[in-house]
Amino acid sequence: MDDLTGYLADVHRRVLPFTDGEVASYIPALAEADPEPFGIAIATVDGQLHEAGDSRTQFSLQSVSKPFTYALALQEAGFEAVDAAIDVEPSGEAYNMISLQDETGHPDNALINAGAIAATSLLPHKGRMSRLLRFYSSLADRQLHADASIAMEEVENGHRNLAMAHLMRSFDVLGDDPVETTRDYCAACATMITAADLAWMAATLANSGRQPTTGEQLVEPLVVQRVLSVMTMSGMYDEAGWWMVRVGLPGKSGVGGGLIAVAPGQLGLAAFSPRLNEHGSSVRGVRTCEVVSRELDLHVM
Ligand code: DON
Repeated sequence: MDDLTGYLADVHRRVLPFTDGEVASYIPALAEADPEPFGIAIATVDGQLHEAGDSRTQFSLQSVSKPFTYALALQEAGFEAVDAAIDVEPSGEAYNMISLQDETGHPDNALINAGAIAATSLLPHKGRMSRLLRFYSSLADRQLHADASIAMEEVENGHRNLAMAHLMRSFDVLGDDPVETTRDYCAACATMITAADLAWMAATLANSGRQPTTGEQLVEPLVVQRVLSVMTMSGMYDEAGWWMVRVGLPGKSGVGGGLIAVAPGQLGLAAFSPRLNEHGSSVRGVRTCEVVSRELDLHVM
């Protein structure tokens, strides 16, 4: 495709009319968010960025943080320690279900809430949130920050996350204090991001862990392979099957309206639009990924 920017403008025009879905309502900051913005961005492994619509509008990262937190945990704590705590099986359930395995209390994977909380606990406690922010920022090649009031609302309304953290602590799955771990998980979800940032983060995974503009090897290739495998099976929770059939790429959604898809060796695709389907994924975001994957022939099969 010669004119990828022109193509994205056309995709934006075609997907814009899809106004079904509802904004997330579990915290005031998301319930009161403007439902209308819609941005798309593609970052290629050779360092080009193409954008359409509201690709520079900020929103909270939410669950799109999870694959990157998992990557950092694998990289810093090692595969053995991470695998001893978190399985790699699809849960087939919604992101906030208590998908802990019988007897062991291990979360099914790192991309559901329980697994992401466990992954957070595997990072050294001291300076954990700044470490995560530094890592996300290096992937986006822009200094990111967490929104303190969103983080606070996440904590205040995060009873189930806190309960799961305590439950995992009781099984010795959680290696750290449940309250502090949940606080950092919530702060990670409150990182403010744009579709353009997400495209770079996804493109870094597409580029075997090397950030396309800075050339820095931020994620080890084996960690990338693991993260993309788990994203393929579990990044879209209980819609992972239809997502894989229709889009055919590792993906990850967040209730802030952000969504990424990774075409290995080619590009990172990101979309942002706050109205969500019943699985907590952006309606326009999913539609965008379906259209772009089909028309650019990105499906891995
Ligand atoms: O912990 C939560 O439930 C939210 N902060 C994040 C959930 C989320 O983004 C699920 N993804 N679609």
